[in-house]
Amino acid sequence: MTTHPPLPTIRPLLDPAPEYAKWQSEEPIRRVTIWGDNSPWLITGYEDARTVLADPRFSADANHPNFPHTRPGAPPQAPGLFHQMDPPDHTRLRRMLIPDFTFRRIEQMEGSIQRICDDLLEAMTDGGATEADLVASYALPLPTLAICELLGVPYEDHGFFREKSNALTSVAGDPAEAMAARMALYGYLRALIERRTQDPADDLVSRLATERVATGEATLDEATGMVSLLLLAGHETTANMFPLAVIALLRNPAQLDALRADDSLWPGAVEELLRHLTVIHSGLRRVATEDVELSGVRIGAGEGVVVALQAANRDPSLYSSPDALDVHRDASGHLAFGHGLHQCLGQSLARVELRLGLSTLFRRLPSLRMAAPEESPALSMSTVHGVRALPVAWR
Ligand code: HEM
Repeated sequence: MTTHPPLPTIRPLLDPAPEYAKWQSEEPIRRVTIWGDNSPWLITGYEDARTVLADPRFSADANHPNFPHTRPGAPPQAPGLFHQMDPPDHTRLRRMLIPDFTFRRIEQMEGSIQRICDDLLEAMTDGGATEADLVASYALPLPTLAICELLGVPYEDHGFFREKSNALTSVAGDPAEAMAARMALYGYLRALIERRTQDPADDLVSRLATERVATGEATLDEATGMVSLLLLAGHETTANMFPLAVIALLRNPAQLDALRADDSLWPGAVEELLRHLTVIHSGLRRVATEDVELSGVRIGAGEGVVVALQAANRDPSLYSSPDALDVHRDASGHLAFGHGLHQCLGQSLARVELRLGLSTLFRRLPSLRMAAPEESPALSMSTVHGVRALPVAWR
């Protein structure tokens, strides 16, 4: 039996595991073992990654018997989780949410997101405090408050859904625990949707309840799955990326000085940080539904594929000096939000949160620094890369 190298589980804080660059230059489409004898194809080149993500012969259906799940015994697909579905169900469900996530709709939220940033920093520095854990005080509550406001989920319950979200996304977690977490979260969200059906407000949950569930376009279970996906994706990703972005900028003071001197660099800097950090680091998973020839390699029908975005985003054929953080570079075209049908629905929201969150933080606390040695943050065992805490200080 041929053995294949395992997908790396340990990585430096701000960079992909070194194996990815090696594989990208030597064998950009190769097999790796993810667990047991499950050995999907790993795609590390930028062009191949885009091709796979845009090709309907690669399915995102997590119920496919050969789907390369992140761990054995992953819970079966639940209704409404359209990120792991193919058309026509994916199209039908995603379409219901698009009006709430357009660039224009998110632009209208800028005022309230700015207020969230200001209020959190006010609380963090209250009473002359000069140090804090940036994750607990800012990076986590900022996207959580924003997604709660958009959805209409009460923020007071964040302790509950944070705990369930951790259990659901932990790669090392027990499958039975993940299933129990899902059931608890679904029970909570189903009850919320039912309440909003009786007493609607101006939020996404109410719109889903009254315009989609009540009309029979979506079932209550589908709406529950969709809201749970939005709630988890909406706070987990940005919250994890934020402290890494702060560390990356503090480690590159010349880049930070450039941003301080010219506010108009922030939108480009956010794209570069997304490219450089690529927090979705366990790979986008797909399964081939037909034989596919990809850059001279034959991927057979029924074989799994893992697209390593963190490698594609550092492909030297597209980005010069790809390992350098350069806020002046044109990082557009990066794949941090994926590509094709499943490209991130919340990308406009994430961009606004990162731009306002980071620029406000560095403007209001110009002396911000790490309060513990740089190596100290512990790597999280999650499908999204991040740190659990980030002690910072300021004068
Ligand atoms: C999909 C990244 C923030 C909601 C995705 C995908 C990536 C991604 C790579 C594609 C998955 C695939 O093709 O299999 C990120 C990053 C974020 C972020 C890096 C922040 C830095 C958000 C936010 C939301 C969100 C704030 C808000 C609700 C979603 C949803 C999908 C998705 C619903 C599934 C889309 C579909 O399958 O059609 N995201 N995301 N994401 N993201 Fe995000």
